[in-house]
Amino acid sequence: MIQRHQLGKVPPKPHTTFHDEDGKLLMEQCVTTRGFEGPFSTLYFRTPPTDEFAVESMNVEGFCPFELVAEQPLHRRHVKTQDIPPGGNFLTGRRTLMVNSDIQIGICKPTDPPAHFFSNADGDECYFIYAGSGFVESLYGVLPFREHDYLLIPKSTPYRIHFEGHKGVMLVFEGSEHIGIPSDYRNNVGQITMYAPYTHRDFRLPERLLEFDAKLHGDAPYPQVTKLNNELSVHVYQHWPYELVGWDGYLYPVAFSIHDYQPKTGLIHLPPTIHTTFSGNGFVICSFVPRKTDFHEKAIPCPYGHASVDMDEILYYVAGNFTSRRGIANESISLHPKGVPHGPHPGTYAKSVGTKETRELAVMMDCYKPLRMTNFASGIEDKDYHMSWVK
Ligand SMILES: [Fe+2]
Repeated sequence: MIQRHQLGKVPPKPHTTFHDEDGKLLMEQCVTTRGFEGPFSTLYFRTPPTDEFAVESMNVEGFCPFELVAEQPLHRRHVKTQDIPPGGNFLTGRRTLMVNSDIQIGICKPTDPPAHFFSNADGDECYFIYAGSGFVESLYGVLPFREHDYLLIPKSTPYRIHFEGHKGVMLVFEGSEHIGIPSDYRNNVGQITMYAPYTHRDFRLPERLLEFDAKLHGDAPYPQVTKLNNELSVHVYQHWPYELVGWDGYLYPVAFSIHDYQPKTGLIHLPPTIHTTFSGNGFVICSFVPRKTDFHEKAIPCPYGHASVDMDEILYYVAGNFTSRRGIANESISLHPKGVPHGPHPGTYAKSVGTKETRELAVMMDCYKPLRMTNFASGIEDKDYHMSWVK
């Protein structure tokens, strides 16, 4: 998605014979998107990836499916994800909070090492690592990550996430299609432009191919969990199916630190989508990072009240002071839905005049279709938030 990348060996031409050290013909697999029109990668397997011998049940022990609330009056909402108890691994610990048909938003606070590889056939995933560091093992290789990284995982990529000490906290966005760099941040040959809020150098790519390690990967059989239409299937392989001789292409996971995001400030306040980082089908993900504030002598740096009548907006508060909000803490998620206006809490607007910088660190997601809360999110909601403007 960022640039062509290659790990290991590939033949000079795709779709031509390519043998391993013992003379065995290797199996080529092209992973393509948008039919055959979109970004793709070409992989060379030591053993064909299609030899699973069983499809098991749809139950994955510990995985928590979501249920949507029966009724959702139109309120501004505050979900206290600080209150979510840690548990499970990168997959079984996932707790879905809000959903529409374009995106699902969840939190995961793993405490256990990963078990099975997971492949999300419903869409690309974007993680934001709130706490912890570690590495992703995927079909495309090993990708280290650290606190405050975004991780983009393409649709149908088998992967699993390891945290150092098995502890971490992640915000999870599951897109219904693809998540990537907005097209207006690219020039006509696909290079990231000088106007974009990051450069090619800011993205970290898989570093080395996976190698089977009996201590890390265990004995056969090897189950892989796949999600499609919000249902899980478990495919069981008789060999470890992630060993490649090489691959090349544009499709693979990447890491990007929010601290490498280059914020923009104007003479007067710019709308929040100036901080757009990634875009998906029906939504954008934006990064609020420490920056100088607006520099007109009478500028009001605090966001103006707004009725963005086409979009729901969520904010995940990571660190620093949020000038426009009261009652919010790190790890809070606010949901400001279309249909009701929202804006800074009383007093914060006037207080911001004359400030020269903000230390806020937060992730925002704006989407067109209204978000529905899950029962789980409703159980950790601050029910007084909607009325907190009038207190
Ligand atoms: Fe807003």
